[in-house]
Amino acid sequence: QAPAATLQWRPAFHYTPRAMWMNDPNGLVFHQGVYHLFYQYHPHSAVWGPMHWGHATSTDLLRWQEQPVALAPDELGMVFSGSAVVDADNRSGLGPAGSQPLVAAFTHHAMDADRAGGITHERQSLAFSLDGGLNWTPYAGNPVLPNPGRKDFRDPKLRWLPERQRWLMALACGDRICFYSADDLRHWTLESEFGAGLGAHGGVWECPDMFPLPGPDGRTRWVLLVSLTPGGPNGGSATQYFIGQFDGHRFTPDDTQVRWLDFGPDNYAGVTWSGVDDRALFIGWMSNWQYATQVPTAPWRGAMTLPRELVLRSGAGGQLLLASQPARELLALVQAPVLELGAQRLDAPLDLSAALADTDGCFLLTLSTSALQGFTLSLGNGLGDRLHLGYDARAQRWWIDRRASGEVDFHPSFATRHSAPRLVDGGASHVALWFDRGVAELFADDGLSVMTSLHFNRQPWQLAQLQVDAPMALDGLRLQALRDPR
Ligand code: FRU
Repeated sequence: QAPAATLQWRPAFHYTPRAMWMNDPNGLVFHQGVYHLFYQYHPHSAVWGPMHWGHATSTDLLRWQEQPVALAPDELGMVFSGSAVVDADNRSGLGPAGSQPLVAAFTHHAMDADRAGGITHERQSLAFSLDGGLNWTPYAGNPVLPNPGRKDFRDPKLRWLPERQRWLMALACGDRICFYSADDLRHWTLESEFGAGLGAHGGVWECPDMFPLPGPDGRTRWVLLVSLTPGGPNGGSATQYFIGQFDGHRFTPDDTQVRWLDFGPDNYAGVTWSGVDDRALFIGWMSNWQYATQVPTAPWRGAMTLPRELVLRSGAGGQLLLASQPARELLALVQAPVLELGAQRLDAPLDLSAALADTDGCFLLTLSTSALQGFTLSLGNGLGDRLHLGYDARAQRWWIDRRASGEVDFHPSFATRHSAPRLVDGGASHVALWFDRGVAELFADDGLSVMTSLHFNRQPWQLAQLQVDAPMALDGLRLQALRDPR
């Protein structure tokens, strides 16, 4: 019997498929005014299974239109994660002369080899679309990159290298990233490998992405994203990043420090859109392999994070860090404040409950201070569910505690308190907290410390209280409803 639909947890402006299982974002490409979001999808069940590429499109990053399944398993195996690009000069030859096919690279994961215990079951393949991304044809010559004998060999991320007039593929190879290049997307040459013995290695490396970004000094650096599971800073799945140089062949990190894109438990396998050149536009799968298959939503399971812009900024001690901000398109959802406080000294608990009433679980809370102190924001309802989050001044950590947030017993690793280091010096701080029903995304210190965290409250939040540990100089605080764009 199908479980009852949990519409109270259907986010308004985060993408969820209408029904069934979804994991990683795939094939992110912007083409002719349309953002394509493909994703790991199992159309026949709400748990992971033979992987397809589901598909959704948007012109504004706010409203998503679910499209027919784009790619399905075939005799070479399931369709694992990968990327898509516009092949502007038809170098692949997959389109008619003069056309600009969309080309997707993905991992074919053979089911038979799996059952036989074979280790070379992952190979890279192509598919192409000649109608703007709706219909896809697997390339007849698949696979284009055979497996050299690695157990894990997957998640190709393509990018055009104008300096070399070649395509680059970043590929997850177990404990390292392999870079390949090709001029036709079909004949791949190994360029270099990165990461064995560097960075976090609590689990297998997956879903790489590498892109250039200007630093605050104007100089361009290359950022390499690597997801790994388990081994995240708060358990299970998470995405680390490296900052360094790329000479067209090899990535060299500036240092060997481990850095995390998001310290929350629910942002995994995220990558950036191709075809968007003026910003690094990112989206992640908002779950964690620890409990993803047991999350209590129906008839869908799996959601994407907010689309985010990634920027390089300097943090504590002048170190270069990757900050995340909600994509600016999201500002179109922000309504006039239901509560607004100007500059004042905050020394008593502040009751925000009345302001929550008109938000339908979708709201943005922003807080600015020139002298950050420890504080706690508590959300509650009549059933006793509580979600707490805040800043611990002694530990200098941001934190979210969802241990009593409602339905938490579906998996032992869900009921947790997680935290993130503060990564800037000084007392000034700006915090933005985005809520979309069962989703909390905390962008602290302008996105230097980010936490994405799911929760399943059994009734809407009716109570909200902000409590400071010591008097805090507030520059401003606002609570604003977020409009449902659908
Ligand atoms: C990451 C991942 C990828 C793989 C896909 C399979 O979550 O394990 O490495 O391609 O999921 O669904």
